[in-house]
Amino acid sequence: MSQKIVLELNAVSKRYKTELALKDISLTLSEGEILGFLGPSGAGKTTAIKIITGQLRQTSGEARILGTASENLDASIYEKIGVVSDNSGVYEKMTVQRNLEIFAGILEVPKSRVTEVLQQTGLYEHRKKPAGKLSRGQGQRLVLARAVLHRPRILFLDEPTSGLDPATAVQIHEMLLALKKEGMAIFLTTHNMEEAACLCDRVALLCRGQIAELDSPEALCIKYNTKKQYRVRLENNTEVTLTESPEDIGKLTEYLKENKVVTLHSCEPTLEQVFLQATGYRLNVDQGNNQKHSGETRRKGVVR
Ligand SMILES: Nc1ncnc2c1ncn2[C@@H]1O[C@H](COP(=O)(O)OP(=O)(O)OP(=O)(O)O)[C@@H](O)[C@H]1O
Ligand SMILES: [Mg+2]
Repeated sequence: MSQKIVLELNAVSKRYKTELALKDISLTLSEGEILGFLGPSGAGKTTAIKIITGQLRQTSGEARILGTASENLDASIYEKIGVVSDNSGVYEKMTVQRNLEIFAGILEVPKSRVTEVLQQTGLYEHRKKPAGKLSRGQGQRLVLARAVLHRPRILFLDEPTSGLDPATAVQIHEMLLALKKEGMAIFLTTHNMEEAACLCDRVALLCRGQIAELDSPEALCIKYNTKKQYRVRLENNTEVTLTESPEDIGKLTEYLKENKVVTLHSCEPTLEQVFLQATGYRLNVDQGNNQKHSGETRRKGVVR
């Protein structure tokens, strides 16, 4: 069931004056797929979105979006894509509903779609409030509502839930999963690994402008599960961690035979730990202050 590819990067590099911000980035995004572009601050995430959407020219390599090379895009591309970034301005003095109606007019979308999107984003009850008086989470949802009004084929989200409370973030996640079901392709940048693990079909781990890994979160967690361990809760309420050593396997067999096992879990690393192991860098630290971790620290990082 191969889905149509809507976005393709082929060895894209970007050099700002003195800095190589992206190096040989290659990836694809298909219809109905959520691709996470994960990396710490300064890794090159926004630069990639700007290149793909034609706001910035790459130094070398090729970026194609819906069949057109990014450097040849014109304004009509905005009929087919939606972009949510920090600087997505809304008219602060106008109500939520009026904001969406204006964009619906520009994008030639029927007004009934405004109501639909208001409901989908949980903003219907706030529709009469001026946009400038919304909370941060509500404001973020308004920007998202605006970006999907015209049912774009690709949605670009630059840190969509950064700084939001967990409940609002979950609402946004649910909305993104519903859009994915409709076949929308979603390119999401984040440095929130939990968000990536629960939302993304595949993730690219970006570090200092380079992709260290690109695969499904599950596949990466399995690949980096080098030190296989199992957490066993026994009926006397103790918890033991076992490895695959013959001695531990013997213990586990005994526990099972004696019917002592209450729960048994394998201990794959989290995506956050995978990132540290794959790149040597922590995710939630600015790239500039992010010291590469020694092998010892890195190993510690992946053991729960
Ligand atoms: N216009 C520019 N001129 C020079 N350097 C730039 C420019 N824009 C970005 N950079 C540099 O390129 C690198 C990547 O920046 P980018 O904004 O793509 O990172 P990011 O991953 O989006 O970070 P964040 O998570 O903080 O948004 C950074 O080191 C940044 O300082
Ligand atoms: Mg950015």
